[in-house]
Order: sequence, then structure tokens, then C-alpha cells
Amino acid sequence: MDEMFKPSRRAFLKGSAAVAAGSVAGAAAAQNADPLITELQDWASYTGVGVDETPYGMPIEYESHVVRRNVEWLTASPISSINFTPIHALDGTITPQGCAFERHHSGAIELRKEDYRLMINGLVDKPLVFSYADIERFPRENHVYFCECAANTGMEWAGAQLNGVQFTHGMIHNMEYTGVPLRALLKEAGADISSDKWVYVEGADASSNGRSIPMEKALDDVLVAFKANGEALRMEHGYPVRLVVPGWEGNMWVKWLRRIEVVDRAVESREETSKYTDVLEDGTARKWTWVMDAKSVITSPSPQQPITHGKGPLVISGLAWSGHGQITRVDVSKDGGITWETARLGKQGDIKALTRFYVDMMWDGAPMLLQSRAMDETGYSQPTKEQLREKRGENSVYHNNCIQTWYVNAEGIAENVEVS
Ligand code: MTE
Ligand code: CO
Repeated sequence: MDEMFKPSRRAFLKGSAAVAAGSVAGAAAAQNADPLITELQDWASYTGVGVDETPYGMPIEYESHVVRRNVEWLTASPISSINFTPIHALDGTITPQGCAFERHHSGAIELRKEDYRLMINGLVDKPLVFSYADIERFPRENHVYFCECAANTGMEWAGAQLNGVQFTHGMIHNMEYTGVPLRALLKEAGADISSDKWVYVEGADASSNGRSIPMEKALDDVLVAFKANGEALRMEHGYPVRLVVPGWEGNMWVKWLRRIEVVDRAVESREETSKYTDVLEDGTARKWTWVMDAKSVITSPSPQQPITHGKGPLVISGLAWSGHGQITRVDVSKDGGITWETARLGKQGDIKALTRFYVDMMWDGAPMLLQSRAMDETGYSQPTKEQLREKRGENSVYHNNCIQTWYVNAEGIAENVEVS
């Protein structure tokens, strides 16, 4: 442990000036006569809120800024739109449902469990219709996975656009899902599961958001999920049942899942032709780009999360993820990618889930160009923006997983920039 981080009891009791300078910022010496320490406060003088007033707990009012936000000019209407997870203000890896980004093509719908039906048809021995109660009777599993919209960071292709990690990288959430493996339902219907077959999945909302999934993936780790973080899915995340397609683009995670058709070739729906493909320089389309490649970003400090404590101990914190499996390493640069150091991972071994990383440092007040670079178990390393543009041209929207740069000035203010 760094000397500076060790609280010194002897010095604390003496309250010498030398200690105030040498201790963790904010852990001030006792002689300051802080009224919060020396005077009786209201909260210790009166009784608090009774349990009858909080049947379902909401964040305390002082945290009311930690909310999803949208970018009004981005879409024509909030019905077919996106809001963003406040990742600058969260820590750990699990995203609370209440602030996990939402993406709808025709608004969130209210669908009662009693009215819920899921049909499996097409190349099956017996077409079936499941009620919600039927799905609950299959053996279930729990897994933590990230869900990232393929359009996450899509506004940054042209240049540094949005001044906040919530807006540049907040189309992602990470939850513990409870659900039934899709393969169990396919088996129940006697589906043709030969490897050249596909499943076409669609939702009960007006957009239906239909997508084709190759059989190999459908049989692998796809879940028909009905709980997230232990409780029912929120309406906006597909209540009562959604598809979870680990590591693959969020668009395939069909909400309000209504039908699974086993088909002998991809349907080529709107969502997988005109949308969720990228036009390359030579005019061809980059198509069937399902997997979300390794990516990372520093969440603090960042434009919405400046350094407010001045020089001294500073915790740099961020998130890394890969649709190919585990994050094995994250490197952090303070000089725009010239030198790198390996970050400390909060927890290792999660597959297709967010990994938290930290760099604990002493900040001397010098400006920094902060970057992070994720590596995954395939040996893949997150590319720079330049490298990505070289490969993908200037016309892309989706799958921007490039290294992000924040310029932090001597005052601790952070800004979205590009380095070249
Ligand atoms: N499913 C349906 N039925 N309708 C939709 O509009 N949007 C998709 C996908 N599933 C969508 C859908 C897109 S583009 C994404 S990124 C994810 O849902 C977002 O999931 P979330 O709203 O839970 O964050
Ligand atoms: Co999406």
C-alpha cells in the first residue's frame, strides 16, 4: 500500500499540520472543529422515516441526478429513441434496472403476464404456444451479461461529439438474468436444430424488431429471461419476457418476446439489412456483425465526473467488456497512448459481462490525456480511433469500439477529445 494511504493514528490524535497534508484528502485532522463532528445534528435528534413509507425504496433525493438522460436532437421522437445509462456515476458492475438505458423503436409497451404468449413455429414437430406460467416451469439459470446497443459510441465516428461518458458510452447495461435456455424450448417443440437452420425472433410491440439468429448461437447461451437483478423485468426492458443474446448486439435482445420461428435461412428483416449494417468505403455493406468486440472506457474522471479534490490520491475507474468472453487485461494511459500501465481489475473471470477496473494514483495536478485499452481472452486488443477508421471508413454508425480519450486539465475538468 502506498505510504500516503496509511491513516496514521498517532498523528491524527496530535492533529499536526503535517498530517493534514499527508493523509488521504478529506480525512482532515480533528482540530478543525468541524460542526458536523462537534454539534448535535437534526438526524441524531429526531426520529427518521417509518418503514410504512418505503414499500419500494427509491434512491435518496441527493442522488436524483443519477438518472438516464437522452440527447434530444438525436432522434425525431422519444417514442423511437434512446436514453443513456449514467455510467459516470455508477461503480461496480451491476446496472440497476431503474437507470439502465432503454432503446425502443415504437415505445415501451404494458403487457400483463396473463396476456403474455410465446409461439414457437416453423420447422418444428409440434408448434407450441407458451404462457408465462409455462415458461416458469422449465429449469432456469442465472447469468450476468452486458447488453450493448450496436449504436453505442456511434456519434463519435466523425469526431469527438458528446461531452459525457453517459452519452458516448451509456448505451450499455449489465444485469443478472434469470431465464430458461432457448435450447430447452426448441427441444420441447421438436425443432429442427441442424446447424444450417436459423431462428427468427420477434417482439409483441408495434415495431416487432425481428431478427434472425443462427442455430449455433440459439443452442449455445441464449436465454428466454423473465427476471433481471432478482426482480421482474421493468416494462422498458421487455416485461414480462425478453431474449438475452450474450455478447451480441443489443438489437437482437428482443423485448416482449412473442414468437420464435425456426427457418432454413435468415429472414433479412429491416433490422438486419437497412439497419445494423455499415457501409464501407467501397460501397459494400458490413453485415451480420453480431458480436460486440472488446471495448473499455474510463468512467471517472470524465466530463460529467471532474476531479474536485485537487492534487493527491486519485482513483481512476472504468469499465471493460467483450462479446467474445473474458476481459483479461486493461491498460490505462495518462499521456494519450504513449505510455501504458496495467489497471487493477475489480473482479476477473466474468464472461460477456462488464469488468470494473481501477488505477490508484497520486495526481500532481498536471494535465492528462486519459485512455483505456481492453484486451480479451482471444488476444484481441481494443483499437485506436485511427486504426478503426482505416478499416471501416467514414460511413459507419455501428460497432465503434475504439479507444476513448479524455483531456483532464490542471483544474480537474475533463473533456472529450481525439488524439492523433
Ligand atoms: N425489442 C423490441 N421488441 N423492440 C425494440 O424496439 N430494441 C432493441 C432491443 N430489443 C427493441 C427490442 C435494441 S436496438 C436494443 S439496443 C435493446 O433492445 C435495448 O434493450 P433495453 O431497452 O433493455 O436497454
Ligand atoms: Co440497439
